Amino acid sequence: MKFEHFWYVVALSEHLTSNTVLERTVLGEWLAIFRDEEGKPVALRDRCMHRNSRLSRGNICQGKIQCPYHGWVYDKTGKVVAVPAEGENFKATNARRTQNYDTKEQDGYVYVRLAQNPEEEFEPFAMPYYDKPGWETVRVINRFRNNVTNCAENFIDIPHTVSVHPGVFRTPRCSKLEMTVERRNGSVFAEYRNETTNLGWYSRFLNRGGYEIRHTDSFHMPNVTSVEYDMGPRRRLFITSQSVPEAEDSTLVYTDVTFNYGIWSKIARPFVRWTAQYIIRQDVEILGIQQDVIEKYGTQFANTPADTIHLFVESIRNKIASGEDPRTLSDKAVKVNFWV
Ligand code: FES
Ligand SMILES: [Fe+2]
Repeated sequence: MKFEHFWYVVALSEHLTSNTVLERTVLGEWLAIFRDEEGKPVALRDRCMHRNSRLSRGNICQGKIQCPYHGWVYDKTGKVVAVPAEGENFKATNARRTQNYDTKEQDGYVYVRLAQNPEEEFEPFAMPYYDKPGWETVRVINRFRNNVTNCAENFIDIPHTVSVHPGVFRTPRCSKLEMTVERRNGSVFAEYRNETTNLGWYSRFLNRGGYEIRHTDSFHMPNVTSVEYDMGPRRRLFITSQSVPEAEDSTLVYTDVTFNYGIWSKIARPFVRWTAQYIIRQDVEILGIQQDVIEKYGTQFANTPADTIHLFVESIRNKIASGEDPRTLSDKAVKVNFWV
């Protein structure tokens, strides 16, 4: 198994209009993303075979892309279908073709997969309650200067919330939390108990009723994290993040906040967006600092029991990095206590 076998988000469907070309990087590969004549997303290697200009800087005309340098035209399969300098002598050949990649569109996202014929067909992660009646989704996109593993770990790390997001998300109270962490089938599930309404000012709106909070975090190979808060009827919230690897020190993160606040759902949208962006900006900053130190001193970490969830995530990602299937790792479940 390889990271290339999975689908990665490259755009929001609504951002990829018929005349747009987007420049993206996935696992170090440069991509030009556009739509063909039927509106299906196309992903080509962002390199003109003629003299190495970037296709993504060119124009789209009727579902084909034209290189900005000497005007070679490529179709959705990556084949060169016009060379202006050859005029009427032009003949299309199979030799003149740039790499194209499989695409998929689901839940309002455009996905690309780099592997041509993976031994197993994976599906993109199904975004919970996307477009379902009564539910609203707010999407934000942020670039982190760090790798996917450290991003994913941050998104399901509770202890940092008191220091990185003081007041907004959680206030320090030294209260004990019980966590059950389980690794199974390429996923990690963490369940928390004893969670009080210690969630900062956000909780006054979120949890007015004082219901018992059900909080679950999970990670799904290779790059998805999900945070779920259930605070009773019409107070449910999912934060789902897809961390797309651009390079070893760059990750583009697409975050969905999907919520059902009953009659408040629609009206809450701007507030949810503002809060999500505010919190994520603080994470972007702390992960940038972490990356600075990793570049200088490497990735030797020291762990506490609260970091069990991270160790499981790392074991899964390391397995894929070494070309193996993380679903062969033994199932494991542990109970730990920590204080926030
Ligand atoms: S470099 Fe693209 S057409 Fe010449
Ligand atoms: Fe955070």
